[in-house]
Amino acid sequence: MTATMETLIGLVNRIQRACTVLGDYGGEGGTSLPTLWEALPSVVVVGGQSSGKSSVLESIVGRDFLPRGSGIVTRRPLVLQLHKTEPGGQDYAEFLHLPKKKFTDFALVRNEIQEETDRMTGKTKQISPVPIHLSIYSSNVVNLTLIDLPGLTKVAVEGQPESIAADIENMVRSYVEKPNCIILAITPANQDIATSDSIKLAREVDPTGERTFGVLTKLDLMDKGTNAIEVLEGKSYRLQHPWVGLVNRSQADINRNVDMIAARRKEREFFATSPDYGHLASKMGSEYLAKLLSKHLESVIRAQIPGMTSLINKAIDELEMELDHLGRPVGIDAGAQLYTILELCRAFDRIFKEHLDGGRPGGAR
Ligand code: GDP
Ligand code: NA
Ligand code: MG
Repeated sequence: MTATMETLIGLVNRIQRACTVLGDYGGEGGTSLPTLWEALPSVVVVGGQSSGKSSVLESIVGRDFLPRGSGIVTRRPLVLQLHKTEPGGQDYAEFLHLPKKKFTDFALVRNEIQEETDRMTGKTKQISPVPIHLSIYSSNVVNLTLIDLPGLTKVAVEGQPESIAADIENMVRSYVEKPNCIILAITPANQDIATSDSIKLAREVDPTGERTFGVLTKLDLMDKGTNAIEVLEGKSYRLQHPWVGLVNRSQADINRNVDMIAARRKEREFFATSPDYGHLASKMGSEYLAKLLSKHLESVIRAQIPGMTSLINKAIDELEMELDHLGRPVGIDAGAQLYTILELCRAFDRIFKEHLDGGRPGGAR
């Protein structure tokens, strides 16, 4: 990706973050800000309970920070924004609900997600559609929004309302039906793939499969004598993008604190030495999935940027008017936030014009 493209994506990422901080502030008759939020793609993981959704997200980010385990662990949507920073600084995380607190210990991020989940739902097995917003700042990530969701389920367990299956499905659907959403449809290889709920839902909202990536987890847990070659070679369920098979950490690995680097090495070894998957080894695993996704995102975003400039210009006009109304933003929270967004939009517009507009007279408008 070119440096300019990366800068522009980084700016949009920060505009999105500032819009989130601003919350539901509508201003005079609303602005183009909500549309701007939706302009960049986000990646959503969809799958049954314990299919490995949170594990897949962690391996894409390359960090341990999500609560994982058997049963319904993810009970609120987690909107995770990754912000690429200059090399040399320390990685940190920040929650929208704790704006002044920088987390450098990612184990504490996991605790906070758990506690913030409980704060909304109690220590029950209930779910809530109210998202937790988390930003991670690191030189090792790509500018990207990832969303972790509660798992699809069939039946309510003790302590859950009867409507839980439908509630979760509706929540998941509200994310994946958006055209800018890239779906990671997770299916565990040790269950019947023909009945995969994630593939069923993905098919429904994305019939051509152009924004769906099929991901097969738990390949290490398949019964001896069976394999998933038919699926991985795209013969069972054809999607536009290739299927990717993964081996993430088992619960025993997690309990023994096996780290990300060791887990990836183990995964690579699994594919390289497997009699079944050896011929597919270079197209399997978490690292390959992360690369595949970032390549796809790059092409989607590249196509999106020119259209985004008109939205940004509209937002600039609206924000200037809005701020005129408010007077000087000093001391006014919403005003200060709008001012930040305005500055970010102006920076975007300037860089776009200088580097990508091709010097056409009249600029991008
Ligand atoms: P989620 O409920 O879909 O978010 O699933 P999690 O990521 O929390 O994983 C559920 C359980 O499955 C955890 O105990 C993980 O350690 C385990 N798990 C996930 N992926 C794999 C895998 O590829 N192989 C093995 N052996 N275990 C896995
Ligand atoms: Na789980
Ligand atoms: Mg989970």
